[in-house]
Amino acid sequence: MTAALQVSTHPLVKHKLTRLRDTATDHRKFRELVRELALLLCYEATRDLALAPATVDTPMGEAAGWEASEVIGVVPILRAGLGLVDGIQELLPNVQVWHIGLYRDEETLRPVQYYNKLPDEPTVQLCLVLDPMLATGGSAIATVDILKRWGARRIKFLGILAAPEGVEALTTAHPDVSIHVAELDERLNDIGFIVPGLGDAGDRMFGT
Ligand code: PRP
Repeated sequence: MTAALQVSTHPLVKHKLTRLRDTATDHRKFRELVRELALLLCYEATRDLALAPATVDTPMGEAAGWEASEVIGVVPILRAGLGLVDGIQELLPNVQVWHIGLYRDEETLRPVQYYNKLPDEPTVQLCLVLDPMLATGGSAIATVDILKRWGARRIKFLGILAAPEGVEALTTAHPDVSIHVAELDERLNDIGFIVPGLGDAGDRMFGT
């Protein structure tokens, strides 16, 4: 599989993902696990964040250190991407959040855009596209297309599960976009759901 794909090997991610898949996990617990997984995956996906030198005063004197120097935007794909925002804001409290509304047409599986309020000029240096499921990859590709037209230069995809088909499609369309997920699952089924997956992430998150 492609070098752009980064599947977490962290034991906590594996443990929480297994709980998340379980049909016995209720909506409240599901949202909590998604938030925790987002935080852990964000920690891994920001390994190459740019730093600038910074000096602070400790009680004992001056200490040379670092501060994160990139302006970061997180771009949740509505609806299910919303569940990943909280965990990321815990780690990165100053991020800009730019929502993109897409739903997948149930017949064609193609993404249909219904919300985009990006300003004319790009305001961030690094974009994290959030969607728990990378299935056919259509939603992620459409979102990266939108962000590149906006002028975003550095873009990463952060999700929970990916299907090989989605990874292939996204890396073919946008080889510069790294993909950070908790697991690469086996395949898509004939209605475009990831198998073994976790069902419909939006429905399990929002109780619909
Ligand atoms: C699901 C999921 C992704 C998309 C993935 O959204 O949350 O956004 O499908 O599929 P793709 O990789 O094949 O594009 P859905 O259309 O069910 O909308 P929702 O998030 O509002 O439930």
